[in-house]
Amino acid sequence: MKRIGVLTSGGDAPGMNAAIRAVVRTGLEQGTEVFGIQRGYRGLIAGDFTPLGARDVGGIIQRGGTMLGSARSAEFRTPEGRAQALEQLDRQGIEGLVIIGGNGTQTGSEALAGLGFPVVGVASTIDNDLYGSDITIGVDTALNIALEAIDRLKVTASSHHRAFVVEVMGRDCGYPALMAGIAGGAEAITIPEVEADPEAIAEEIRRAYERGKPHALVVAAEGARYNAQRLADYFRDQHERLGFELRVTILGHVQRGGAPTFFDRILATRLGAAAVERLVAGEHGVLVGLIKSEIAATPLEVVVTSKKPLDVKLLELARVLAK
Ligand code: F6P
Repeated sequence: MKRIGVLTSGGDAPGMNAAIRAVVRTGLEQGTEVFGIQRGYRGLIAGDFTPLGARDVGGIIQRGGTMLGSARSAEFRTPEGRAQALEQLDRQGIEGLVIIGGNGTQTGSEALAGLGFPVVGVASTIDNDLYGSDITIGVDTALNIALEAIDRLKVTASSHHRAFVVEVMGRDCGYPALMAGIAGGAEAITIPEVEADPEAIAEEIRRAYERGKPHALVVAAEGARYNAQRLADYFRDQHERLGFELRVTILGHVQRGGAPTFFDRILATRLGAAAVERLVAGEHGVLVGLIKSEIAATPLEVVVTSKKPLDVKLLELARVLAK
C-alpha cells in the first residue's frame, strides 16, 4: 500500500489524537503516505484530504478532541454518499483507511468494507458499548472526569446534608453511569438497561440518611428512563410525601473534552499502530480493540451485528457497597 487515509467520526473521545499520531507515524515507518480526512465521513464525501507528516502530529498526544474534526454524517448512510466517498478515495489514490470511532462510525466502516474497500476500524467511544474491545478509547478519561465532579459534589452535599443526582453520558448504554456510580459511591444508579423505581430510590436515600450519611448521591445515565431531570421532577412532585428533593447536575459533554489519561494515550497508541500494521499487511474488514489485555481484531460484520453485554449484576454490588 502506497497511500492510506485516517479519519475520526461520531462523538469525539479523549485519545483520538494519540491514535491519529500513531497511525501517521506507523504508516510512515511502513513506507506509506498518510492523508488526514477532515470531519469524518463528511470530509470523505467532500474529498477534504490533507497529507500528514510526522511533525504535523507533534504535540497532540496530550490533547483531547481530534485534530481532524468529527461529524455525524447522514449523507454517508445513503448509497449515493458512499459511492461519492469511494470516488474521492480513488481520485486521491488512497488504497486503505483507518477509521476511528464507535458504533455508528464502525457501521460506516463495515459498509465501505462491504463495497470492497480495505478498512480497519479502531475502537473509540466514551460509552464503552462497542463489541470487539473490552475497553474503548476515551472511557478512562471520561470516567475520571465524571468522578472528579462526583467527588466535588459529595463535598458540598455533605456540608448541607443534600441529595444530588448527577447525570453522565450514555444515550443507549449504562456503562458510564454504572462505573461512575460504583467508583463514586452512589446510593442509587439508573441505566437504560434496567427499569428503575423512583420510590425504591427514595427509600435508599432515606435509609442512607438514617444510617447517618451526611449526603446522598444518585448517578443517572442520560438514556435512562429516569435520567437526572425526570428523577428530580418526580422527587419535586412528591416532595411533601418524600420529604426531600434532588439537586441536579448534568455533566454532558464536559466528560468528552479532557486531556487523555495515561491509559487512554497508551490504548490509543497501541490500537492506532496495530490498525496500520494490519491494514498494510493485507488484513482488513476488521476492528482492532483490546480483548483480555491483548490487541485483537474482530470482523466488522461481527462488530456491527453484536451487542456488547453490560454486567448489570454490578448494580447489586453498588447497592451493597453504598452502606
Ligand atoms: O456516543 C458517545 C456520546 O457521548 C454519548 O454518550 C452521547 O449520548 C452522545 O455521544 C452525544 O452525542 P453528540 O455529541 O452528537 O450530542
